[in-house]
Amino acid sequence: MLEGIEVSKKFGGLKALTNLNFSVEKGQIVGLIGPNGSGKTTLFNVITGFYPADSGKVLFKGKEITRCKPYEIAKLGIARTFQIVRPLLGLNVLDNVTTAVLYGRDNIGTMAKGRGRALELLEFVGLDKKKNAQAINLVSAERKKLELARALAIRPEFLLLDETFSGLNEAEVQDAIKLIFRIRDELGITIFLIEHVMKAVMETCDRIIVIQYGIKLAEGTPEEVSRNQNVIEAYLGKRRTC
Ligand SMILES: Nc1ncnc2c1ncn2[C@@H]1O[C@H](COP(=O)(O)OP(=O)(O)O)[C@@H](O)[C@H]1O
Ligand SMILES: [Mg+2]
Repeated sequence: MLEGIEVSKKFGGLKALTNLNFSVEKGQIVGLIGPNGSGKTTLFNVITGFYPADSGKVLFKGKEITRCKPYEIAKLGIARTFQIVRPLLGLNVLDNVTTAVLYGRDNIGTMAKGRGRALELLEFVGLDKKKNAQAINLVSAERKKLELARALAIRPEFLLLDETFSGLNEAEVQDAIKLIFRIRDELGITIFLIEHVMKAVMETCDRIIVIQYGIKLAEGTPEEVSRNQNVIEAYLGKRRTC
């Protein structure tokens, strides 16, 4: 469904991504992991058109999207969340999601219908009780749910999640894992997720791609990746032999 061919991106002299090849099949949950600064968010920014790739190609359902603008990519059916969540702080929770619904792919004409759809999404993510709260007053876990509802509001076929689990306690992580499966199984959305919470990655992902310094280090099932010597060294450092 999503494919990257030799994708590269530099910031000045810094090579954030170098000749990266990746693919995500329809219906899968694929994880993207790697140490801090390894280029994970940059890859999502390139896929969603926030930063153009310097070279290489990104294809969505076989169509090249490398030079598309973020709003064009959203209209094609790719939604994302941000590592640093970005609600409209001056609006309440319901209006945050309604705004996204009205700009989404459903051509919902009226505010009343938009609000109805937004409420359904808030129920889906478990934030309906907070519908009248100002976004600025939400705690971290609630902001993450709002961010998710706003991404789902465009009715995506493909969802990129950037550290949705960070800052959640254990019970909240468990809830979020259930929600990820429901997004895939009930809404039929394919998921590509960046995550540091290893429990969440290991439990949810069909396949994991590991990058370091913008280069692919390993790829495979959670089991394969967790046994890969290069991955262990990237996370824990090289074992000293003397
Ligand atoms: N807009 C930018 N301008 C300059 N450097 C950037 C920018 N975005 C990211 N970088 C750099 O690119 C590298 C990869 O960053 P990032 O993709 O955010 O890593 P990750 O999400 O894996 O932690 C880092 O060294 C970061 O400082
Ligand atoms: Mg990041």
